Amino acid sequence: MHSIKKIGNIPNIVSDIPSLPVIASRILHIIADDTSSLEELKKVISLDQSFSSRLLRIANSPYYRRGRSINDITDATMLIGFNTIKALVFAASLKDLCRISDATDRLLWEHSMAVSIGATVIANETALLASGEPLIYGLLHDIGKVIISRSMRDKYAEVITMVEEQKNSFMEAEQKILGFDHCSVGEYVANLWNLPANLSFVIANHHREDLLETVQDAELKKITLIVKAADILCSELQTDLIDNVSLTEDEWKFIKLASPKKRDSVIMKINEEYPHYKDFVLGQSPS
Ligand SMILES: [Fe+2]
Ligand SMILES: [Fe+2]
Repeated sequence: MHSIKKIGNIPNIVSDIPSLPVIASRILHIIADDTSSLEELKKVISLDQSFSSRLLRIANSPYYRRGRSINDITDATMLIGFNTIKALVFAASLKDLCRISDATDRLLWEHSMAVSIGATVIANETALLASGEPLIYGLLHDIGKVIISRSMRDKYAEVITMVEEQKNSFMEAEQKILGFDHCSVGEYVANLWNLPANLSFVIANHHREDLLETVQDAELKKITLIVKAADILCSELQTDLIDNVSLTEDEWKFIKLASPKKRDSVIMKINEEYPHYKDFVLGQSPS
């Protein structure tokens, strides 16, 4: 469905493209396979010593805890939900990929986490999607930025300066300075990593403005618009280095968020859930 031809020059320009972490790819398989069991998930969780203790900490946080303390992964999964656990472990497994070495890395990563929580809250509130998927869409929607920034740090710093100082959108600044943007690099990497088709679509198309009219597949429209909406609604949580996106009234309607009141309640929930998620993914208490 996605042609590599039009972005064929990317591997020559963007070097040092990492591979998808093993745990991340195993989780994607579990998510894709509806019949996967808790036992399979537990096997993956056991590959990283820190995952179980982090999951237990989340399960025992005031947000989730319902009285008694939770000491094993099966109970934690019942409490937090199978889909959410899969998505949390997936997020944590990307930590090496999105290693934080400076303020820019941190902001990019925080943006992805905020959008993934945003997309999850929207999906839950509107009952439009299963709860594990939107977390992953949000988390990886801007993976192109992470890849470019790793490979061409100085050039990408120029992009960021342009975004910050001249209020250019990321897409504009990238096109001006690099001659390509994070959506095409993201699409290239999605192909390289064999990511599921829906996820590649979101990565490649989350800045398109003609989704409603030109995309036939309702599911693709829905997931991409949910990620765009999350990008907008979480901008209250994180005001630096956000993507410059907007939705039309018809697009808000399409994802059942035409009412500003409903959008406000989504923003409130995002604010509530974000710190727990960040805590788990980064493996530290919120600072
Ligand atoms: Fe983006
Ligand atoms: Fe974004």
